[in-house]
Amino acid sequence: MTHSNTISTAAQHYLDLENKYGAHNYHPLPVVLKKGIGVHVWDVDDKRYYDFLSGYSAVNQGHCHPAIISVLKEQADVLTLTSRAFHNNLLGEYEQYITQYFGYDKVLPMNTGVEGGETAIKLARRWGYTVKGIEENKAKIVFAEGNFWGRTMAAISSSTDPSSYKNFGPYMPGFELVPYNDLAALEKALQDKNVAAFMFEPIQGEAGVVVPDNGYISGIRKLCDTYNVLMIADEIQTGLARTGKMLACDHENTKPDILILGKALSGGTLPISAVLANDSIMLTIQPGEHGSTYGGNPLACKVAMKALQVLKDEKMAENAEAMGNLFRTALKKINSPHISIIRGVGLLNAIVIKHNNPDAAWELCLKLKDNGLLAKPTHGDIIRFAPPLIITAEQIIECVGIISKSLESL
Ligand SMILES: Cc1ncc(COP(=O)(O)O)c(C=O)c1O
Repeated sequence: MTHSNTISTAAQHYLDLENKYGAHNYHPLPVVLKKGIGVHVWDVDDKRYYDFLSGYSAVNQGHCHPAIISVLKEQADVLTLTSRAFHNNLLGEYEQYITQYFGYDKVLPMNTGVEGGETAIKLARRWGYTVKGIEENKAKIVFAEGNFWGRTMAAISSSTDPSSYKNFGPYMPGFELVPYNDLAALEKALQDKNVAAFMFEPIQGEAGVVVPDNGYISGIRKLCDTYNVLMIADEIQTGLARTGKMLACDHENTKPDILILGKALSGGTLPISAVLANDSIMLTIQPGEHGSTYGGNPLACKVAMKALQVLKDEKMAENAEAMGNLFRTALKKINSPHISIIRGVGLLNAIVIKHNNPDAAWELCLKLKDNGLLAKPTHGDIIRFAPPLIITAEQIIECVGIISKSLESL
């Protein structure tokens, strides 16, 4: 067993290997996991934890969901990759499934989330030139301050976080920023006839679960319509039942022009992302103009269909909504002087820590770990709580108990 902040010899072995042979591009909690089932993960010393990160919301369906793992294994024995040089017998079926599921004409399959973002931006630029009539090389994409959509050169070029962009320049031109949750600033930016799209997160996840005012998402829709600008919703973290609706945009009955999905599209088994749009946008890209070796591979197609199906079959959006309400209500009752803010929607939640120790959020995560719950600070004093969506009421109450106990010892 691992005890209070001590690391077992077994765990230390793995930490040493990573430290010596891996790039130092992450700062993980000192816990080494070897197994996951549902809402739980186990470390190499067989200690069990609640997973309150869910692989940054990739594991919405729970670790190793049996139905997803079953089709993964089945298809792995049959055919895994053809490339798009040839057709395969699952791509069309998947394309039909996901477009009908979300109500779009077409899908463009990719792998990681950031590739989904890159794809959406390429589509928007192409649409800007060929449909909106923007002069060559003048297209602009507007983003919200505090955005996070990955780590490629384009993604860091729109970032306002120095740890993302500093010393990685020069940056991608044609990107502009407006404050998040500020429709007046957005309107001003969209008046520029060279703007092709506004790309945003319905709730800013990495920024610390920043929830905009009611009316922001539908307000974006109205402004995009008024100024003939594409509305691109990055639902990679907020989508797929995480916030208590299938998409976070559904909270305001709003349909973006381009929808980007990733993470839980595979239930945490493979990198699978998707960009959805109607024909007037999607067909602006012609054969040979975009793609990826793994995008749309038969293994991914099979897994994604099942990952989407179990969300509906097991009513995960409904559970996320109910458990999220229970979680925030129970958290409020703790009444800890060290929590200054509790916020979130569904099971995408965060607390802001108030403490004279600037490392208190990190310290609290270490205490949570000792007490059997894994979570990580997003930004300094903010801790995100996002368990798998299959969590039960009893488990939520137990977890709030763990959080309460850990806060007391802070
Ligand atoms: C909103 C959002 N968009 C895009 C990404 C990038 O996804 P990936 O890490 O799969 O490239 C993330 C990752 O955290 C994200 O939260």
